[in-house]
Amino acid sequence: MEQYVIKGGNPLVGEVEIGGAKNAALAILAASIMADETITIDNLPNVRDINVLLGAIEGIGAVVERIDAHTVKINGSTISGMTVDYEYIKKIRASYYLLGALLGKYKKAEVALPGGCDIGSRPIDLHLKGFRALGARVDIQHGLIAAEADHLKGTHIYLDKVSVGATINIMMAAAMAEGKTIIENAAKEPHVVDVANFLNSMGAGIRGAGTDVIRIVGVEKLHKTEYSIIPDQIEAGTFMFAAAATRGDVTVKNVIPKHLEATTAKLLEVGCEVEEFDDAVRVVCAKPMHHTQVTTLPYPGFPTDMQPQMAVILGIADGTSTVTESIFENRFKYVDELTRMGANIKVESNIAIITGVEKYTGARVSAPDLRAGAALVIAGLAAEGITIVDDIYYIERGYENFEEKLASLGAQIEKVSSEKEIQKFTLKVS
Ligand code: EPZ
Repeated sequence: MEQYVIKGGNPLVGEVEIGGAKNAALAILAASIMADETITIDNLPNVRDINVLLGAIEGIGAVVERIDAHTVKINGSTISGMTVDYEYIKKIRASYYLLGALLGKYKKAEVALPGGCDIGSRPIDLHLKGFRALGARVDIQHGLIAAEADHLKGTHIYLDKVSVGATINIMMAAAMAEGKTIIENAAKEPHVVDVANFLNSMGAGIRGAGTDVIRIVGVEKLHKTEYSIIPDQIEAGTFMFAAAATRGDVTVKNVIPKHLEATTAKLLEVGCEVEEFDDAVRVVCAKPMHHTQVTTLPYPGFPTDMQPQMAVILGIADGTSTVTESIFENRFKYVDELTRMGANIKVESNIAIITGVEKYTGARVSAPDLRAGAALVIAGLAAEGITIVDDIYYIERGYENFEEKLASLGAQIEKVSSEKEIQKFTLKVS
């Protein structure tokens, strides 16, 4: 089991490059099996979730050729099975995107019911509602979702709740349905737009992605393409908040500043300076931060995937702040860990009431999920003394070379795998 060991207190200073968006990449990789020609995907983040999904794609018989860490070629013409095993699904929830992709292309798919990061109950009823509306028979039996149709027919679908996953999954199936589909109350996240752009580059007819009404004219076939994934707005936001928490000065490069507006707005509210360039943002946070209120909402609102990182900076800001989680009900599991580092946080239902403390103090903590894990690392970077973060495999699901990127900004952080290595690090930094 690997851990991060961190000696806090160094302001992060310098420049950091952001990789491709994990959540866009997961859907794009799944969609790439929908052509019978070779698809080339670039700016792929080299993280665990992506590598698991590539395994699942190989598992159904597609040819996957890894050109380098960030480029892959996929050819779906050799697909021989329509069944995606629980082995993959239990590791990454997003393998359910293969349901929409296989159903669209072959009108048949079987995928195990998903697990994923434990951030609350995560139903997929809206995905299934969409497939049924397109004419598929959908059954759940023996832990498998089986979807099948003689043909898929375009239709009008209203999503009762804004869902990134359901919007993308339905969009994929509808891309190869007969006629026109309209998805109303669609998610508007940048990765929804990226998946639509990708499918369109394969010949799909998708309009309106990025608004809450997406119109799709189905096509019979999709063709080869070469596509570069958008930068990861959550990785970018995480480094912006790490800069703030450590009172640093960091330029976060290879980003689309528009996608970071909600994150940037909150940094300005707490008193940091944010300078925007064409494809970079610079965060400078020299003065003490002050309290604010945050509610997570679908894009363009404040992202739930930045909620734990936000709480970490509010934990050391002046005054009392509130963080309301409106997307997932169980996304405050890091609070007990942060309390062990000296935070003063009380959770009432879906609201965390945070009274700022002067500083965090290093402690041994455990990452409860991907983003909360990253947030605990940020707390460790800001804390006095040594922090050890256990269970970092969660963090590695979504952050590439996290500790190396932080170290390049002046953080004292190492990945270790034994008590001996922890002691060695402690001796070295003391
Ligand atoms: C995606 O999850 C992301 N995952 C999550 O990122 C992210 O937190 C989330 O969107 C919200 O932005 C991937 O893209 C792989 P949703 P997803 O469907 O698609 C409810 C990370 O850390 N809902 O938009 O599963 C649901 O319970 C991960 O990178 C239904 O009720 O999220 C939630 O309350 C964690 N029925 C809300 O909708 C459904 O059928 C939004 O969920 C589907 C969702």
